[in-house]
Amino acid sequence: MKYTLAPSILAADFKNLGRDIENVSKAGADAVHIDVMDGNFVPSISFGMPLIKSIRAATDKFFDVHLMVTDPERYIKDFVDCGADGITIHAEACRDVENALKSIRRAGVRVGIALNPGTSLSTLDYLIDEVDMVLLMTVNPGFGGQKYIESSTRKIRHLRDRLNEEGRDLDIEVDGGITMDTIDKVLDAGANVIVMGSAIFRGNAAENTQYFKNILKDREK
Ligand code: DX5
Ligand code: ZN
Repeated sequence: MKYTLAPSILAADFKNLGRDIENVSKAGADAVHIDVMDGNFVPSISFGMPLIKSIRAATDKFFDVHLMVTDPERYIKDFVDCGADGITIHAEACRDVENALKSIRRAGVRVGIALNPGTSLSTLDYLIDEVDMVLLMTVNPGFGGQKYIESSTRKIRHLRDRLNEEGRDLDIEVDGGITMDTIDKVLDAGANVIVMGSAIFRGNAAENTQYFKNILKDREK
């Protein structure tokens, strides 16, 4: 299985964002996780297309855009045009989830669906064929630095078992509260795309990136 480390820039130093992105890219990050928050689907407001457009030049790493946005289908083309390589939308945020996922597919970027901690895996029953990746939120979205929700471990395991039974080689991304204390349990449960914000950007981001990237590399041996 391929393991991916995706630092979340929500926790980066915004007055030195290009430097932070460059540091984690050089230290081995596989992707940049970009948390777009609209203040409606989630309480916070973070950033949008202009910021993504400006940081696109800072790295050639995969831009993993996580839309915590109501009715995100309105913005798919805009985010692709400003440099997104993958777009993940929340099932809870769409009136027509299938159509929103299909529009990401038509736009030619990786298709992700995100489920909040309280949202059942059965949401995927009639949508799984439309996606490349499932993002299981391990905190309730809206803020970095929150505590991992322990019931997520069982949910990750259930999803990985289901994908294995169905012979589906989809990525499972986890996002929120992934730290030194929780990374092994999410990897053991079957997650392979790891979002980390505060665990990377609090302290020495390059060293933290190398440390967690080595954990993922060891898993691939
Ligand atoms: C929360 C965001 C997460 C968050 C992760 O709504 O989707 O990506 O930034 O931050 P940490 O790793 O600090 O929990
Ligand atoms: Zn996120």
